[in-house]
Amino acid sequence: AKTHNHDFVVQATKVKRLCETHNSITVNGQFPGPTLEVNDGDTLVIHVTNKARYNVTIHWHGVRQLTTAWADGPEFITQCPIRPGGSYTYRFTISGQQGTLWWHAHSSWLRATVYGAIIIHPQEGYSYPFPKPDHESLITLGEWWDANPIDVVREATRTGAAPNVSDAYTINGQPGDLYKCSSKDTIKVPVNPGETSLIRVINAALNQQLFFTIANHKLTVVGADASYVKPFTTKVLMLGPGQTTDVLMKADQPTGRYYIAARAYASAQGAPFDNTTTTAILEYKSATSKPIMPPLPAYNDTATATAFTTSFRSLRKPIVPTEIDHNLFITMGLGINQCPPKTRARNCQAPNGTRFTASMNNVSFVLPSNISILQAHHQGIPGVFTTDFPAKPPVTFDYTGNVSRSLWQPTRGTKVYKLKYGSSVQIVLQGTNIFTAENHPIHLHGYDFYILAEGFGNFNPKTDTAKFNLVDPPLRNTVSLPVKGWAVIRFVADNPGTWIMHCHLDVHIGWGLATVFVVEDGPGPMQKLEQPPPDLPVHGVRQLTTAW
Ligand code: C2O
Repeated sequence: AKTHNHDFVVQATKVKRLCETHNSITVNGQFPGPTLEVNDGDTLVIHVTNKARYNVTIHWHGVRQLTTAWADGPEFITQCPIRPGGSYTYRFTISGQQGTLWWHAHSSWLRATVYGAIIIHPQEGYSYPFPKPDHESLITLGEWWDANPIDVVREATRTGAAPNVSDAYTINGQPGDLYKCSSKDTIKVPVNPGETSLIRVINAALNQQLFFTIANHKLTVVGADASYVKPFTTKVLMLGPGQTTDVLMKADQPTGRYYIAARAYASAQGAPFDNTTTTAILEYKSATSKPIMPPLPAYNDTATATAFTTSFRSLRKPIVPTEIDHNLFITMGLGINQCPPKTRARNCQAPNGTRFTASMNNVSFVLPSNISILQAHHQGIPGVFTTDFPAKPPVTFDYTGNVSRSLWQPTRGTKVYKLKYGSSVQIVLQGTNIFTAENHPIHLHGYDFYILAEGFGNFNPKTDTAKFNLVDPPLRNTVSLPVKGWAVIRFVADNPGTWIMHCHLDVHIGWGLATVFVVEDGPGPMQKLEQPPPDLPVHGVRQLTTAW
């Protein structure tokens, strides 16, 4: 196995999109940022220097970080942010993951422009569990704001209202032909007639689930979130933010040009809905014809989305825990906090003088502000978090029905849930209609989990348990929870550390749709959290010493 060294310089860079030039935060002046290409088993050493004027951290989305939680990256969960002028070297090893993952800033809304792909090939000397493709290409879907994304979220925090929606969707950072001033930079993906491409698709958008398709071409899904799946063929993919999907595509159509296109799957009622489409061009060698536009599902085509998300089956024999030590039931809720009457606080400009909030089991998660949860856990520093995150919602109610207003106002707190090393966990993730129904791509750090089943309405333990797939459930790090529906996941807590589980819509994480699992060390050598690196950003409590 190899060690790959990289320097990431986070810096302001001039980026021109939609007719205007912006000072965007990038890594090494590149947007999207550099692609990391490794083999399974390799080690990455990434030296991040912060030359921007914002705090930053980098998260390696989906990388298991076995015993290296210090390198996971979410700010105030596993580290304090890297301050302007500061630096931190992330060191971690890829172990037993193959396919596509990605990295992104995990600090405020910086990930709007601070992200890139992680491509993990099989270990050297091994091949894919499918015929070797002739080409590989990478499609990273994103969202672009004309305004500085940090200002957009700060303004929302100031007013309590919902942040502005993006001005474009993007493919590899480019909006494409259908947006103003964007045509000449539209991404081209060259193919040779008769050849097969492995196309790695990442949804790096901040707040939007996306449908994805390529005109006239069939897509054979072979992997997702760096796990292989039993191949299945589809015309349309649907990815929640955070998810990746690897597909094989044969260039078996008449020589020509075909649009690669993505647009919103906005299943929630009342959610801001954007009807725009981002495009790239699949280009057969020397073809110059006008590109063919594919049909895309309607923004509310839940049937197509569900048919896709329920088609995944693990390729390798899964090891699903059957005895459950922790049986959790977690509701996802949006909400509004009533603001004090008459005062009309500045941050109460959501409908009727309220401010938006969100919660899991009616707890709105509050990040610590000057120490990470991992440091507090490791050093035994009290007062940073409490271990009373509830295993069930405070009351049983009709989650997806018309929900009483009393549930609109969650409590706030830094509440975590403790797990013994090696314990097995089942979580029923239950969408709700609290305030309004919404989609929630739920992402767990430090783990891949099996998705046993999903469905609409309220999870019913009597009838829905029979639907669990214990034979070949897909292994993923992010599940697209159906709107007003549920999903059941399982994993074994075999990775010590503090791991955030959150909705991957940045608008929801900002409102508190998150919790943290604290997994204790096990007795064995690969079961203990490593010592923190000497340059780990910590501030507020005390300087890092070797006495840790
Ligand atoms: Cu991709 Cu906590 O993030």
